[in-house]
Amino acid sequence: MEAQEIRKRFLEYFKNHGHTAVPSSSLIPDDPSVLLTTAGMQQFKPYYTGKADAIKDFGSLNTASVQKSFRTSDIEEVGDERHLTFFEMLGNFSFGGYFKKEAITFAHEFLTKEMGLEISYVTIFEGKDAIGVPKDEDSRAIWLGLGIPPEKIIEQGMDDVFWGPTGSGGPCGPTTEIYCTNGAGQDIEVWNIVFNEFLFAGSREELNSGSSGKKLEKLPVPGVDTGMGLERLVMVVQKTPTIFETDLFYSLLQLLPDNLDDVKRRVFADHARAMAFLIADGVRPSNKEAGYVLRRLMRRVMVFEKLHKIPPHILDTVIHEIIHMYGDFYVEIAHEANTIRSTIHEERDKFLKTLDRGISELLQLIEKKKQSGDLNPINEISGTDAFYLHQSYGLTEDVLEEILVLEGFAYNEAQFEEERKKHQEISRAGQEGKFGGHGLILDTGELKAGTEEEVKIVTRLHTATHLLQAALRKVLGDDVRQMGSDITPERTRFDFAFSRKVTPEELKSIEQIVNDAIKKDYTVERVEMPYAEADKLGALHFFKEKYPDMVNVYSIVHSKTGEVFSRELCGGPHVEHTGEIRGIHIVKEESSSAGVRRIRAKLE
Ligand code: ALA
Repeated sequence: MEAQEIRKRFLEYFKNHGHTAVPSSSLIPDDPSVLLTTAGMQQFKPYYTGKADAIKDFGSLNTASVQKSFRTSDIEEVGDERHLTFFEMLGNFSFGGYFKKEAITFAHEFLTKEMGLEISYVTIFEGKDAIGVPKDEDSRAIWLGLGIPPEKIIEQGMDDVFWGPTGSGGPCGPTTEIYCTNGAGQDIEVWNIVFNEFLFAGSREELNSGSSGKKLEKLPVPGVDTGMGLERLVMVVQKTPTIFETDLFYSLLQLLPDNLDDVKRRVFADHARAMAFLIADGVRPSNKEAGYVLRRLMRRVMVFEKLHKIPPHILDTVIHEIIHMYGDFYVEIAHEANTIRSTIHEERDKFLKTLDRGISELLQLIEKKKQSGDLNPINEISGTDAFYLHQSYGLTEDVLEEILVLEGFAYNEAQFEEERKKHQEISRAGQEGKFGGHGLILDTGELKAGTEEEVKIVTRLHTATHLLQAALRKVLGDDVRQMGSDITPERTRFDFAFSRKVTPEELKSIEQIVNDAIKKDYTVERVEMPYAEADKLGALHFFKEKYPDMVNVYSIVHSKTGEVFSRELCGGPHVEHTGEIRGIHIVKEESSSAGVRRIRAKLE
């Protein structure tokens, strides 16, 4: 059965069972707290909470859709047998029309009867006292009633079978998931059925940590939200070992040259689909938010083109095939065909210029080495040279490696890492020179003070620096990453990855956000927890630095609403309340090195 047929049958089945088919919403959600659409339920959030009326809008309390979805969290996983960035999600939804019994029965019937599949096993929620949600015995009884044997009903916890809330708050609840076998004999999760019984007025991180003081509220009417990745369903129906042998990918991969290995072919195909759909929904490559995601996908493919000598017309042909495959179902793809092509061409022209300069420097370096005969036992360029090219021309480690391999060379990776560390510490070293390397009563590497009075000042500046990072991310996007920080009694200096000048207007609003946060007198809380937990909570930390098993997490939170303004892994010291900072003033913004900006700020 072809993917196209499966999409059609899904919508038909649910239409025949009292649902209204609703078109996919855009990949750019209405909800400003969410970057991209990650699930079918997002466009329906107001119907669960009673803010919008489903009967009025859809003529039914039940809907079904095939939703364009995108998960940035999976970018690094693409290339294995089942992860994608862009994917299609089949879903049925109910806003008080039906609940567990019907939802599970529909899913069971659709999979076993319509798709002819066997269910390997299902999972149910084991319950969690801390949030007051009991074990899901109702779902177990329903599954047993449908003939699923007890040993195939597996209990799982919050991480696996509790959905939502998305963004800054919304419906959430326990789920039951269905697993089926693919062509390689692996059990794959195909369908997630969510019982939205609750409403949480905060983020998923706040719900998990339980420290925000916010409570789960009961939704007035419980709802159903389900999601089934089309590509995975097609894989189990067509019994292929990975999603890439299904008819959704087969014709795309065939267009790619043989000199690309399997992983790169999959990445190429995935990213090409994602590009087409993002551009069709109005995203353009930039250094912010969705635009940055798009730029990253495009540049990755363009690095492949460059390194493997893949002519530009190959991507054009792949895009053409994508438009052909999807243009009927998603009309925007057909309408925007020309824009998709021209956006890709423009970005390629821009990117190749920088890349070319970096690559030609690298090739000259290799040539020089060869001529000088100055080759250590292996053909190697130093980590210092490699790091310079990385810093100045954006040659990623990927690119460095690939070009060097073609020339029979390598680079000294240990040295490269050392250089990276050194670079991070240059600011510290400079500071030590200034203080003469002694006479300090506080020296954390990041903070330095010579007297008790100065300790108080750098402590205020330190908390201000956390507020600054949070404000930078609010204004410039979540991809802002700390690259270094240095605090003296005179000022804080903060380096971060961002590839253009920050405009005066942006600086103004960043300063304003920090000063507002100071006025609101947020509480600064320190909690010690395992690193893995801090990571899960989304605590910000220095990229690539090594951390011990237990870490300190400093959260800057509103004592009444529980709003988390900032959360970072950090060794302190910090003020207890942001009001103690009194106010800051940004004095300068400049380039620090390629792709890194530097901001200085003082206390008012
Ligand atoms: N919203 C749920 C998911 O995306 C169904 O998995």
